[in-house]
Amino acid sequence: MYLKNSWYVAASAEELGRGLLGRWICDEPLVMYRKEDGTPVALEDRCPHRKFALSKGELVGDEVQCGYHGMKFDCSGVCTFVPGQDNIPPRLKARVYPIAEKHRWIWVWMGEPSEADEDLIPDYHWNDAPGWAPIMGYLTFGANYQLVVDNLLDLTHETYVHQATIGNQAVAHTPMDTRVDGENVLIERLMIDCDPPPLFKRARGFTTNIDRWQRIRFNPPAHITIDAGGVPTGTEMDTATNPESMNWMVLNALTPERADSTHYFWSVSRCFSQDDEELGEMIRKQIINTFEEDRDILETQQELIDSDQSGRPLLTVNCDAGNAAARKIMDGLIKAEAGGASAGHSG
Ligand code: FES
Ligand SMILES: [Fe+2]
Repeated sequence: MYLKNSWYVAASAEELGRGLLGRWICDEPLVMYRKEDGTPVALEDRCPHRKFALSKGELVGDEVQCGYHGMKFDCSGVCTFVPGQDNIPPRLKARVYPIAEKHRWIWVWMGEPSEADEDLIPDYHWNDAPGWAPIMGYLTFGANYQLVVDNLLDLTHETYVHQATIGNQAVAHTPMDTRVDGENVLIERLMIDCDPPPLFKRARGFTTNIDRWQRIRFNPPAHITIDAGGVPTGTEMDTATNPESMNWMVLNALTPERADSTHYFWSVSRCFSQDDEELGEMIRKQIINTFEEDRDILETQQELIDSDQSGRPLLTVNCDAGNAAARKIMDGLIKAEAGGASAGHSG
């Protein structure tokens, strides 16, 4: 079950062009492209005729021509051409999904089209705001999106999984403060006078201990922003006024692909040394290594969950407070939606 009345990132703005991009989202096949004027379009990637994939056809002007029997569909899903036949049955119509472009990502609305309000798109302004230098990427994880949410809401694992980059002892040993604010979960961890983790040293040249922070925000269905940073111990923990601070926003837009796979659109946007391209490349490589470490964990975890016949549930301890809260919020929203409540969720 997925939350349908919600915006999901379906592609990066850069990858969507004048070609047909097929992608599964929430167990539904979509085909996306840009019209000649650049406007994005999303249709169901299942030809209304005999259910072949439209994404395996061709883009002709602003229309898609199915690669099986040559029927054409315009960007409102209407069939405009049936080979050898003048009369076009109105039921030959492809489903159209509301689509929008914002913060360098392409968003689709998977639920009731009349509820699709672009103001509900979550805030990811760090991808295109002045003063921020984003490094963006895309991965697919062979794990259910809620396992990826769990991973990002409990960063205790950094100490054990990401020792080469962002892990230090302080993360695992400092308790988190977890709060629920309506449909959002807010998690804060302040680590005073701790070792700078390896990537912080490389990125900012810290030579002393640091005061480190992580402020995580969860917005349904699976949007997680992490304000992460550090300053030399005892100096002001304020990026705006402390020139020695290191601060980046780790942005995680997770989109369910199928029950056991997730599209992971990520961005690490920094507000220091924004013009240093060499630094940007170093951070990109290290972050990808870090996320590949998460992928190994999550794919193994998914396989072991799927194969477990015991019926034993996942267990929850203190460090799971944030992910337990997020799952509870999502369960409530999915139940309400299934019960017919109108929706629209964002932070
Ligand atoms: S399946 Fe698409 S035209 Fe026949
Ligand atoms: Fe991780």
